[in-house]
Amino acid sequence: MAFALSNKLSLRQAARPAPAARRPVAVVRAAAAAGEVPDMNKRNIMNLILLGGVGAPASGMLGAYALFFVPKSAGGSGGGQVAKDALGNDVKSNAWLATHGKGDHSLVQGLKGDPTYLVVTAEGKVENYGINAVCTHLGCVVPWVAAENKFKCPCHGSQYDSTGKKIRGPAPLSLALAHANVDDADNVLLSAWTETDFRTGEKPWWK
Ligand code: FES
Repeated sequence: MAFALSNKLSLRQAARPAPAARRPVAVVRAAAAAGEVPDMNKRNIMNLILLGGVGAPASGMLGAYALFFVPKSAGGSGGGQVAKDALGNDVKSNAWLATHGKGDHSLVQGLKGDPTYLVVTAEGKVENYGINAVCTHLGCVVPWVAAENKFKCPCHGSQYDSTGKKIRGPAPLSLALAHANVDDADNVLLSAWTETDFRTGEKPWWK
């Protein structure tokens, strides 16, 4: 008797759907009955409207944010970014050479705002590369020591030759390079150096 009763109970339980499985069906039915679940087309349209509503202002804000970082004088006939002097003025080649002699290494504001050395060649011209002054060890700005014809980092003693090539650690790498060119308006333009590093014969690590 007890066996028959427990058999009946377990059969009833087996026939009853699991509560967890029933709930979503009931919710969807109720929502559909009330017209709350749009069909797939409507849902796609609603998604597009939502994306348009959020995306347009967001992309406008992103555009304005990006423009904030583009210098006003970026660009030029040869491409690149005009180097800036300590006062934030565009560096003009003739004016620069009038006050910076042969072999000079002086800082300007370069690509991405990095301190960058402009070099004056033995012929009295702006060298066709600039040297990023950020030490490759831990990021100190490396001073040029004219008396020793090299860069010496005051932080941990790394040294670089006059081209920025590492000659003593702990810095692991040479200083980064940028192209330096003079455009038709006499601006000194800096642009990314992506070619082989002429000092090491290797691909640039800073790319
Ligand atoms: S930061 Fe230049 S040697 Fe450490």
